[in-house]
Amino acid sequence: MARVFSGIQPTGTKHLGNYIGAIRHYVADQDKGEAFYCVVDLHAISVPYEPAALHENTLDTAATLLAAGLDPARCTLFVQSHVAAHAYGAWLLGSVATMGELNRMTQFKEKSTGRDSVSADLFTYPVLQAADILLYKADRVPVGDDQRQHLELARNIAQRFNSRFGELFPLPEAAIPASGDRVMDLQEPDNKMSTTRGTPQGTVLVVDPPEVVARKIRSAVTDSGREVRRGEGKQGIGNLIEILSVATGEAPEAIEAAYEAKGYGDFKGDVADAVVELLRPIRERYLELRADETELSGILERGRERASQVADATLAEMLDAMGFRVPPRGG
Ligand code: AMP
Ligand code: TRP
Repeated sequence: MARVFSGIQPTGTKHLGNYIGAIRHYVADQDKGEAFYCVVDLHAISVPYEPAALHENTLDTAATLLAAGLDPARCTLFVQSHVAAHAYGAWLLGSVATMGELNRMTQFKEKSTGRDSVSADLFTYPVLQAADILLYKADRVPVGDDQRQHLELARNIAQRFNSRFGELFPLPEAAIPASGDRVMDLQEPDNKMSTTRGTPQGTVLVVDPPEVVARKIRSAVTDSGREVRRGEGKQGIGNLIEILSVATGEAPEAIEAAYEAKGYGDFKGDVADAVVELLRPIRERYLELRADETELSGILERGRERASQVADATLAEMLDAMGFRVPPRGG
């Protein structure tokens, strides 16, 4: 059976771009094989972070994924630090990863330039990501376009491991969504929607109350024209058309045709209504999960058990292939 794996950073509450570009694809991919989704808290410490917020952010992210439709009966959702094999496996894979290839990672360059102190974890981040994927022998890895290079590296690491130590890993394929999945900031439509780099008014959080969602969308920057169309100089309107298309399932062309004789005011009102309805059930379920931790902890505990079974077995195979002879406990 095919294996699906993806990881998501515990940056707390997620935004509409994360939902459209990533989370809804995780939900769809649950049934494309045995699926594992991991909140990658070990990756989060590669940049300066607040220890007191780490755990709550991890729970927020897990709750958002569940609220958006990950179903514990159809997938395994777990926390990376709960399965020690990830850190161990990353060390083993570090022996076949090279400084040269890690040096070429654009995400490392982006995240490290201009900082006076850069952690060693930020540099080896992609090796831990390769361990995440390979411990589950994943075939399919749903990720955003920005992860293309990390996935290529994971494949190279797998290939090198296989040729040096014997065939163990299938080569993982990145499943990258179409370009319409890139959601732009509502206030600065030339930039991606982002909690860290975007504008607060231009970023719709999955858990924003309905009136906040509606206000942000109604005050989205458009242009001085009046045509509801995509195209040159119409990034703001184009972004709203793509968002409406995802929210209603209608093709962008059909939306353009439907608003031929209408103005921006009507159009933005309809986008606001559609996004409010898209997010409403997610927000409600999120608040429910966060109100009482018992259910969420239980789901993550069962996730940890299933993930450990698979990851520990692969780790044992890796150790064995590499020449270690770890005696069984108590044996
Ligand atoms: P992040 O929380 O930034 O690590 O992103 C988590 C996932 O959401 C990644 O797969 C990203 O590619 C995706 N993502 C982040 N921002 C956007 C955006 N504005 N539009 C579409 N996808 C996004
Ligand atoms: N680096 C990914 C991101 O920033 C998160 C991630 C960690 C991941 N491990 C992974 C994604 C394994 C896919 C597979 O989005």
